[in-house]
Amino acid sequence: MKTYLVTGGAGFIGSNFIIYMLKNFKDIKIINLDSLTYAGNLNNLKEIESDVNYHFVHGDIRDNFLVNKIFEDFKVDYVVNFAAESHVDRSIEDPETFVKTNVLGTLNLLNCAKKAWYVDGKWKEGKRFHQVGTDEVYGSLGETGYFTESTSLDPHSPYSASKASSDLMVKAYFDTFQMPITITRCSNNYGPFQFPEKLIPLLINNAINHKALPIYGDGLNVRDWLYVEDHCKAIDMVINNGTIGEVYNVGGHNERKNIEIVKEVIEYLNREYDNTITEELITYVEDRKGHDRRYGIDPSKIKDELGWYPETSFEKGIIKTIKWYLKNKQWMEEITSGEYENYYNKMYNK
Ligand code: NAD
Ligand code: DAU
Repeated sequence: MKTYLVTGGAGFIGSNFIIYMLKNFKDIKIINLDSLTYAGNLNNLKEIESDVNYHFVHGDIRDNFLVNKIFEDFKVDYVVNFAAESHVDRSIEDPETFVKTNVLGTLNLLNCAKKAWYVDGKWKEGKRFHQVGTDEVYGSLGETGYFTESTSLDPHSPYSASKASSDLMVKAYFDTFQMPITITRCSNNYGPFQFPEKLIPLLINNAINHKALPIYGDGLNVRDWLYVEDHCKAIDMVINNGTIGEVYNVGGHNERKNIEIVKEVIEYLNREYDNTITEELITYVEDRKGHDRRYGIDPSKIKDELGWYPETSFEKGIIKTIKWYLKNKQWMEEITSGEYENYYNKMYNK
């Protein structure tokens, strides 16, 4: 029975990961450590909250006393570090919070894991510290080429700079202490439970409320979209079969211009939900500062070494996702009350 310490498990990808793992494996235990920032939502975990193999701890990854206590109370085998400040626009307004959680939080987790796992000059068997990284650490691509694992790090936003720093700290614990680590760097995820500050849920929420659909700059920036469950599958495969000390890029060759995404969302909603949702809602707004032009992942390494492949095509995944948000309006209403309103007005109603 392996015990996973999942951090940030009440957020978008972390909650999908916990649900995916508990559905697919009966012989694991999951401890979810989450401080429940604006992005953390325990409602995401309703379907597994009473599972005997699931345990929630409310707390901060920077809390040295608490994290050491988790390692004392549970025989943690794997750390999967999702906990982060994750939104680029917020990092432009408040970089410090990103450094505190993404860099110092990761460092604290590394230190606590080392304290528990490195005993009498040896690493205990079967341990793994997995860092959930992002393709944004590689910077921006021109019209051609892809990010490989050996592409130089060139982050442009305070968010991606903090994620690059945390990746490097994790790598340093491998290089210096031979800590058993792995890192994945994934492209843009979409799917259920994504906080509506991010493009796709924001578009769906605004469209069904007949609000403007804000497009930064010329709308031609490109992102490489992956259905969240395919990311969860990749993380599981890397933890269990990936080579210690290695980085694995995760992406499904699903590049889309932002304007194409907006048009697809409008087209589906117009056809299947409400024919007053039209392209007239599209509103071009001021560009994001330092806006990366294009991301594109080369996933050859994870495919060739571990046999990973994306199971959900974008065409199927986007419909599944829109349907999920239409079915879960209550979830959206709850999450958009309170803090979100202030954030939204500050960002979009300047
Ligand atoms: P999210 O913002 O939806 O969730 C982050 C979670 O971390 C929240 O539950 C929040 O409460 C928790 N958290 C934040 N600070 C914390 C702290 N100090 N201590 C404990 N918990 C804390 O983020 P997400 O989109 O699910 O991303 C998860 C991870 O995956 C992040 O590390 C992100 O960088 C990475 N990632 C995201 C994407 C994407 O497209 N969303 C792609 C690649 C990688
Ligand atoms: O690439 C992986 C990264 O993807 C993750 O590491 C981040 O945590 C995640 O937030 C995401 O970052 P992006 O900045 O790419 O995602 P976002 O949804 O914020 O924006 C996607 C694109 O859409 C980007 O080019 C900016 C644009 N955009 C976004 C918003 C919120 C708009 O045009 N209008 C908007 O209102």
